[in-house]
Amino acid sequence: MLLEEIKKTAQWIKEQTHDFRPEVGIILGTGLGEFGDKIDAKYILDYKSIPGFPVSTVQGHKGRMIFGEVEGRRVVAMQGRFHYYEGYTMQQVTFPVRVMQQLGIGYLFVSNASGGINTSFTVGDLMIITDHINLMPNPLIGPNMEELGPRFPDMHNCYDKTLRQKAAAIAEEENIKLQYGVYVGGTGPSFETQAEYRYFKAIGGDAAGMSTVPEVIVARHMSIPVFGVSVITNCGLSDEVGDHEDVQRQGKKAGEKMELLFKRMIKEL
Ligand code: HPA
Repeated sequence: MLLEEIKKTAQWIKEQTHDFRPEVGIILGTGLGEFGDKIDAKYILDYKSIPGFPVSTVQGHKGRMIFGEVEGRRVVAMQGRFHYYEGYTMQQVTFPVRVMQQLGIGYLFVSNASGGINTSFTVGDLMIITDHINLMPNPLIGPNMEELGPRFPDMHNCYDKTLRQKAAAIAEEENIKLQYGVYVGGTGPSFETQAEYRYFKAIGGDAAGMSTVPEVIVARHMSIPVFGVSVITNCGLSDEVGDHEDVQRQGKKAGEKMELLFKRMIKEL
């Protein structure tokens, strides 16, 4: 039943975009949507116009899919994602990834904002996601869609090692400082208590967030290589109350670093 919906939505998008076949899918996280403006856009579809897409109940929610080119490569970028804490089911949260797979993407790039729990991280750092810990319900719970992937998908090399190595090489060339770490995905929407940040650190986490993990699990179910980047917007274990404007400025600066990294990664895929 869900598979039919996925195929119907993908078919509708193919018609709207005259069979534009994206090679790379990109999910732009909170505050990182500006990358969308760097795309040489051919088609833009608002989520609310896409049949089968979750309907946003959040006021002023801007969500759209941008089809176009980055460095001569065909991409589809999602400006805005669906979060579990908004009340969507995990099937709804991950529906766009299923659809992008049907459109033909061979890679998924994901980004997000997160709270640093590794005490060597500072606000504005860019963290390459090396692995994750899932503290949300698993999006694969329910009947398995055999056509798309196995019942028990392997999660080794979840964040593709070759892509991570490429990122490290590019960052060195471009003089971009990178951190590396494990992303802990919780449901939110409340931020963590101090005790919870300490718990996340104790179980092996480096950054805490409320997204990304469901989409990545679903991408890996379908064997799509994943590259993930997190912008550290606050430090969970610090006593200091963050200055919001500083966080935004740092986030924007980190966003620019992320854009450069994504652009060069896409060019060299
Ligand atoms: N926790 C969870 N999600 C987040 C945080 C955080 O500290 N910062 C940005 N997103």
